[in-house]
Amino acid sequence: MFALKTTPARTFLRRAEEIAKPVTRWSIGHAIPRVALRAAARRGDLQGRLSIEAGGGADLTGLFDEIRAHGAVATTRVGHVTTRHSACKDILTDDAFKTVRFVPDNPVLNRLVAWSESGLIHPIQPPSLLASEPPDHTRYRKLVTRVFTARAVEQLRQRTQAIADELLESLDPTNPVDLIEQYCGLLPVTVISQILGVPPEERDKVLALGGAAAPSLDLGLPWRTFRTVEATLAEFDSWLTVHLEKLRANPGDNLLSKLIAAREDGVGLTERELKATAGLVLAAGFETTVNLLGNGIALLTRNPGELGKLRGNPDLWSNAVDEILRYDPPVLLTGRLCARDTEIGGVPIQRGSIVSTVLAGANRDPEIFDAPSVFDVARANARDHVSFGAGRHYCLGASLARMEGEVGLRSIFERFPDLRLLGGARRRQTRILRGFETLPATLI
Ligand code: HEM
Repeated sequence: MFALKTTPARTFLRRAEEIAKPVTRWSIGHAIPRVALRAAARRGDLQGRLSIEAGGGADLTGLFDEIRAHGAVATTRVGHVTTRHSACKDILTDDAFKTVRFVPDNPVLNRLVAWSESGLIHPIQPPSLLASEPPDHTRYRKLVTRVFTARAVEQLRQRTQAIADELLESLDPTNPVDLIEQYCGLLPVTVISQILGVPPEERDKVLALGGAAAPSLDLGLPWRTFRTVEATLAEFDSWLTVHLEKLRANPGDNLLSKLIAAREDGVGLTERELKATAGLVLAAGFETTVNLLGNGIALLTRNPGELGKLRGNPDLWSNAVDEILRYDPPVLLTGRLCARDTEIGGVPIQRGSIVSTVLAGANRDPEIFDAPSVFDVARANARDHVSFGAGRHYCLGASLARMEGEVGLRSIFERFPDLRLLGGARRRQTRILRGFETLPATLI
């Protein structure tokens, strides 16, 4: 009798919690930072301006220069920010700086954050590699690099070439095409899906989930986008559970089957660690490389002289990929939390401060790159860019991305030497991930 009476009350409470938790997560993680950043931007605060102005692929070169003019690290009301190459490298390689995990100073807020956690795997929450630190990070990274070796990647070159050829073959040259939808988006997802044993018929689903989850790296999301991202992460989580079950029951010749079996001192990844790692590798494997390809096509068609240099000397392709990564990097910035009082380039940084290392800004630092605003595929030190980060979180897929960039870009320009972009190119709205949403073109 008593249980019957309390059931509706319990149901009501559970429903109320189901509504209150996401509202709390959004308020703390997005709404409050959004209001604060907008207010800061209005006051001219450099960090605030960077967050607000970054959407839609705006040209931020002037802002990068302004930030750089403030010294090694600019101190703003909302945190620290740097576009200096040396400071970015120092911060990313220094033990005093940890990957950012949002833990508010205020104990009440802190409890609210813990209470409202969704429990879903998320690219920037533990146990994702991107949000872990030693000793956990060292353990995950050892296990992944054991299967993700440089040799394994080099062996994928031929497969990548075959995928690029097949995709180019399927394009109708007599009609305009959207290069993002029909080429740049498909090449990386097909490659990473093969690497991770995702069946071809599930590729489109994975692509759609990755696209919808891309804003998950951004701060200050509007409510609707936040809800779409969370629903997508939940769907991705369920899909991964089933995918891992299938591979466990039926291991194949793919890196994920190897990762499931991998052990370090007899210990492997837990189910949650495995899901977070596989999910990150899968999503990072295509959500960034699509931008490298799209940004590369846009830069090369807009700079026909540079494309001409590559036609005359195809050995330059690998350097050209690094110059594309330097000039228009797929990842704008990353952030770190300062774990103890320290200094960078003479600027004191207090424990608890958040520092934004603007990779795209460091790539335009005139201390390192002569005439940084010139796009030059033969630039001698193009490879010194920091587009893959630095230190212990240095991109795990850097050699794969470089190889895909080289094969993908060279193949399309060799096959369609008269490729021309049409009007209507549109950049993605995401702030951290930078690239094109659509890139209409004619091929012949
Ligand atoms: C052009 C393409 C790519 C770019 C620009 C890029 C960029 C980056 C950056 C900047 C980081 C460091 C983030 C930080 O320090 O906070 C990173 C980490 C990572 N990337 Fe990439 N990435 C690319 C392609 C890939 C690919 C193809 C894969 C898949 C194999 C991948 C997997 C990862 C993983 C797993 C990490 C986390 C490493 C760690 O925390 O230890 N990335 N990437």
